[in-house]
Amino acid sequence: ASFLCERDRRYVLDTLLNGLQRMEYRGYDSAGLEVEGDEPGKPLIFKEVGKVQNLKKHCLEAPIDMEKTFLSQTSIAHTRWATHGAPSADNCHPHKSDPLKEFTVVHNGIITNYKELRLVLEKRGYAFHTDTDTEVAAVLAKYLYDSQKGKQITFTALIKSVIMELEGAFAFVFKSIHFPDEVVIARRGSPVLIGVKTEKKLKVDFVDVEFSAPADTEIPEINTTGSSLLVPVAAPAGKLVRSQSRAFLSDDGMPQPIEFFIASDASAIVEHTKRVLYLEDDDIAHIAEGEFHIHRLRRDDGVSAIRAIETLEIELAAIMKGSFDHFMQKEIYEQPESVVNTMRGRVNFDTHAITLGGLKAYLSVIRRCRRMVFVACGTSYHSCLATRSIFEELTEIPVSIELASDFLDRKTPIFRDDVCIFVSQSGETADTILAMRYCLERGALNVGVVNVVGSTISRESHCGIHVNAGPEIGVASTKAYTSQYIALIMMAIQLSEDRISFTARRNAIIDGLHDLPGQIRQILQHDKEFQALAQTTLSKERSLLIMGRGYQHATCLEAALKIKELTYMHSEGILAGELKHGPLALIDESMPVILIMTQDSLYAKTRSALEQVTARKGAPIIIANDTDKSLDAEQHRVIRVPKTIDCLQGLLNIIPLQLLSYHMAVEKGFDVDFPRNLAKSVTVE
Ligand code: G6P
Repeated sequence: ASFLCERDRRYVLDTLLNGLQRMEYRGYDSAGLEVEGDEPGKPLIFKEVGKVQNLKKHCLEAPIDMEKTFLSQTSIAHTRWATHGAPSADNCHPHKSDPLKEFTVVHNGIITNYKELRLVLEKRGYAFHTDTDTEVAAVLAKYLYDSQKGKQITFTALIKSVIMELEGAFAFVFKSIHFPDEVVIARRGSPVLIGVKTEKKLKVDFVDVEFSAPADTEIPEINTTGSSLLVPVAAPAGKLVRSQSRAFLSDDGMPQPIEFFIASDASAIVEHTKRVLYLEDDDIAHIAEGEFHIHRLRRDDGVSAIRAIETLEIELAAIMKGSFDHFMQKEIYEQPESVVNTMRGRVNFDTHAITLGGLKAYLSVIRRCRRMVFVACGTSYHSCLATRSIFEELTEIPVSIELASDFLDRKTPIFRDDVCIFVSQSGETADTILAMRYCLERGALNVGVVNVVGSTISRESHCGIHVNAGPEIGVASTKAYTSQYIALIMMAIQLSEDRISFTARRNAIIDGLHDLPGQIRQILQHDKEFQALAQTTLSKERSLLIMGRGYQHATCLEAALKIKELTYMHSEGILAGELKHGPLALIDESMPVILIMTQDSLYAKTRSALEQVTARKGAPIIIANDTDKSLDAEQHRVIRVPKTIDCLQGLLNIIPLQLLSYHMAVEKGFDVDFPRNLAKSVTVE
């Protein structure tokens, strides 16, 4: 945060700590922050392992004057999810260049060439104190600054030369005692947005480019290949490309008190301001004296540095827990409304018509494509699997479903007449973004299906659908899954609307969509029974197999993922058709099994799986339709769900499984919203 207005230390700490707490769901093994000290050039850094709450306690108990007021100040904070180096106070951010904290930095992402850089910097006599990749950015800034001593260099030009040397993905915020009250923010690959808060109306609604390196500045370059040492060399002199003076004058033309909030996620800043702008890759943003400028890392790269200020549409209330014990529980219970929000304004239940505005201009291109390639990770991948069959049926276009990491590993062939669909709750998953850029390079049409408006995937895809599930905070995805599922169903229906022969089928699905919210509510009313089952039986098990086939295979995989994520026990989703090819060997009287056996065209085959399991003394819990009278309640434990059309049944079947996994984790005493080792949004490869 950067403030050009009178604020005391308590205000700054509250701002940073609240912001961190709202972002904890993204990663949470340690947290740290830096605020102005009592004397200029002596910043204070606090770090704690564990949750942000620990850091808060540490700061509040520190012998510092909370009432001390500053006319202008900048502070940085970070919550970490370890990629390089174990979670420890040393490894947590902010990282400093040296004991005097000449340069400090917070970083989201990975620096892939940090080992090489560290080696050359060590040879030059610079010491390192942590195992992280991030520290190298701070030390490199100091090295480059030291090598410029005596010459005038701006903070922006200096950080530009740091960024030039780094490989990988990152969003950085740099501070320096040499450039008091200035902050430089750099982005490549990891999301970052900047909120602006002023009391008066802003004169401009965008910020403009300024290349500020003075003409005589030498920008050093570093060669890290082979054994060469760091050699600063003269780079072409910078020239002023364009400048926009005082970007943030108010209407009366006067500079004004202003606050900037920089974050990798809107949830951290939405309580302060909804006026934000998103940085693009290779943007270097500079804040000083209430002014904000965006520079491009390389001039003449053809990318404009003009960024519009947008208004966020999320409400703080939407990211608060309310009366629920956990975000996950709240999000499961929100599903009757969130599925409606996904359909709102898009489905006309009277005329049986679906209109997805974000695809409109591209429908004919998509209909003509030679195949559709769905790419996603985790739960989002399961929503693709769950809807694959309806795409194939309604569009008769070949469909392949890819896990983003594997898709990239295989360098999958992609052609201009492919349509690639990237499904992501956050829109920031690094693997999915990289896959999207890979397809872009190969000329395919890229469609984004995302929940977070303004996210990288929503901005960089050609067209797409916002799933409109509302903010999802719980690391284990629930309502985003059901909304993605519905968004994809709607897409399949819209793509097939020119096919008369499928009219009856489409109408039946749209009728099914109409009844969904009420049916989800019906299932939620049985929550106590799921809780009892979780408490008395399932949470005591060491393993749980979940079986089904056809449309329900995706449900099995998604349920097993929920159970693994939350309860840390082994769970596996098994395609019932594969049972006899291996998994049957696992079955005996003690192996817990859930069998999804709702009524669709594969019912008879799933029944035979039940027989195979019971013949080996297995006693599965069966998820069945409430219309299914053939199951003997005496003989089996049955979870009843309402019946809907085959391709939507998975939307209902997953609800009891979400609740079971939730209750099992609560029963085991685990942190449901923050499962160990996982993050909501994996912004590193
Ligand atoms: C992480 C989360 C999962 C999520 C996956 C994909 O692994 O823990 O819950 O499904 O990322 O995230 P995305 O935002 O792309 O849907």
